[in-house]
Amino acid sequence: MKDINNVKDFYNQYAEKEWIRLDRSPYDRINFHLHMDFISDSLKENAKVLDAGCGAGRFSIEFARRKCKVSLYDISETQLQIARDKISEAGLTDQIEMIQVGDISQMDTMEDNTYDVTVCYGSPLNYMYSNYREGIKELHRVTKPGGKVYVSVNTRFGVIHSLIGRSNFDITDFLGRPDYWMIDQVVNTGNLSTHADVKHPPRHLFDSQELRNLFEEAGFTDICMASSPCLTSGLYDKADVISSNEKAWQTIIDLELKVYKKETAVELGEFLLLSASK
Ligand SMILES: C[S@@+](CC[C@H](N)C(=O)[O-])C[C@H]1O[C@@H](n2cnc3c(N)ncnc32)[C@H](O)[C@@H]1O
Repeated sequence: MKDINNVKDFYNQYAEKEWIRLDRSPYDRINFHLHMDFISDSLKENAKVLDAGCGAGRFSIEFARRKCKVSLYDISETQLQIARDKISEAGLTDQIEMIQVGDISQMDTMEDNTYDVTVCYGSPLNYMYSNYREGIKELHRVTKPGGKVYVSVNTRFGVIHSLIGRSNFDITDFLGRPDYWMIDQVVNTGNLSTHADVKHPPRHLFDSQELRNLFEEAGFTDICMASSPCLTSGLYDKADVISSNEKAWQTIIDLELKVYKKETAVELGEFLLLSASK
């Protein structure tokens, strides 16, 4: 209960910053593009889509634009209010079936077998620190038989890889004080507990085999994994430079699209994408 209230408070205060998160730089736009490409085959007209942990609705809006019937669900009232406003500004309110506050590990208001597509993008499962298992079971329960689930999470090595690439971060201090930064604890257990110098609430960082096992245990099949970004993961400044040349930008997007679903780099992307069938 305490964990979930921390997450709720954090995202209530994070407010509009969450709306701009995937549009604030070329690097973030690569992430957005790959997340959308990953799910795009399932976004059929009138498909019932649950956006669980939707935040400010960056993806919900895109699903609505593709004429899906979208339900938004999040623990943060503030995020849902931003999403409601953005959807209204975009003239997409008719595509929305439900906007509801709640915890993904207890989606009691939702019936079994409801959604064609269940989405949990942008790391809500990481914040469900000690009850991500229940969350994955709930994602399975509300998905229709034959339906699909799409999630993205942060991984243990993916976070470290991103920190290495970050220009405004003191990587020497981080690697030079492994005990202070709990590097072994995170790599061995995935648990990044409360820390004086980490602004986010506690998170559980996954590794790819662990995540695959959890989805299999919950009853999902046909599991595919990908990396977002892949080639440019962690390389924020390089993405800026590349984006200044239109042809170079197109080329890197094409290359990312060619490589990101190869399971060679899933441990190192800023996000690990997973799709599966029920
Ligand atoms: C980084 S944001 C991602 C938002 C959106 N899915 C995206 O990818 O742009 C994470 C969201 O997950 C929500 N969240 C975290 N834990 C949750 C839980 N147990 N139940 C519902 N929402 C949760 C947070 O409130 C936040 O809005």
